[in-house]
Amino acid sequence: MSTTPVKVAVTGAAGQIGYSLLFRIASGALLGPDTPVELRLLEITPALKALEGVVMELDDCAFPTLAKVEIGDDPNTIFDGANVALLVGARPRTKGMERGDLLEANGAIFTGQGKALNDHAADDIRVTVTGNPANTNALIAKSNAPDIPAERFSALTRLDHNRALAQLAKKTGTSVNDLKKLTIWGNHSATQYPDIFHAEVAGKNAAEVVNDQTWLENDFIPTVQKRGAAIIEARGASSAASAAAATIDHTRDWLRGSADGDWLSMAVVSDGSYGVPEGLISSFPVITKDGNWEIVQGLEINDFSRGRIDASAAELAEERDAVQQLGLIG
Ligand code: NAD
Ligand code: LMR
Repeated sequence: MSTTPVKVAVTGAAGQIGYSLLFRIASGALLGPDTPVELRLLEITPALKALEGVVMELDDCAFPTLAKVEIGDDPNTIFDGANVALLVGARPRTKGMERGDLLEANGAIFTGQGKALNDHAADDIRVTVTGNPANTNALIAKSNAPDIPAERFSALTRLDHNRALAQLAKKTGTSVNDLKKLTIWGNHSATQYPDIFHAEVAGKNAAEVVNDQTWLENDFIPTVQKRGAAIIEARGASSAASAAAATIDHTRDWLRGSADGDWLSMAVVSDGSYGVPEGLISSFPVITKDGNWEIVQGLEINDFSRGRIDASAAELAEERDAVQQLGLIG
């Protein structure tokens, strides 16, 4: 085992997602079995007592890869020297709300945290935003951290990607292991577009294997877009274990690389690819290696996909304008 622990900061650590996420990180699921990890956990002051309880449980697991745990309510201290920051802490929506309704309530959290990352994180910092509205919160954090390269900020659409894989595997009677090259485009919201036109089922084009436009339009796409709401309706609380698993998948693959012959969905800063306005944090098909990502280029976009990608980008632009008006970005 190497000796210097990687510092992983997690915000909202006493919350639902935190309760799943911390134990997986501590057990080596993020960085592998040979890399010691130091957890740096941020919470608001009233939640620190509950967080102490979670840390007692982390101790009780005696994870060989867990080198140290630091907790606190000051992002300047908790982000000090962080190599990875998982920004989960934010209010979840409840029944009947859209994620965009959280813009004002949660946006302000990400200005302060962006500044604190800018001033205190390690030079190799990578940031994953899970807290909603994730894309625009990542935009706010990025905009408040001018010294950190923009490509170090990302938002989670891996949960949507995983949800889409599960639906496609069910429809085609295959396993998720047989599926490749699925894409989530756009916002982590009901406008997101799960695209199977370039996906493969056991090496064959997924849209051709499915060959069912009604299922695609009336079942698959809305099911993936509205899965978060369906879980809130059924569970009475927003997805947590699956969100934690996706946060691990996203960040692990970013740091350790995507599989050969496949790609991932990650919301990253747009360079204008596929007509998505430059600067927005939008989900794209990406290939990752050694902590870097690249948007997959050259995919042919049919008219059906074009309209949906544009609609989600338009929503992201509206969210950007709204947080600009709130003074959260310059
Ligand atoms: P939760 O309410 O159980 O936990 C959130 C935690 O964040 C709380 O403990 C709260 O005290 C803490 N918090 C609030 N403000 C904070 C701040 N300024 N600094 C540090 N901590 C702070 O919520 P949850 O179910 O864990 O969900 C967290 C967020 O993740 C929500 O916004 C939810 O909508 C979002 N989410 C995103 C995805 C995704 O795919 N992107 C999936 C599921 C949930
Ligand atoms: C999800 O997709 O499950 C989360 O973003 C929670 C939500 O509000 O939908």
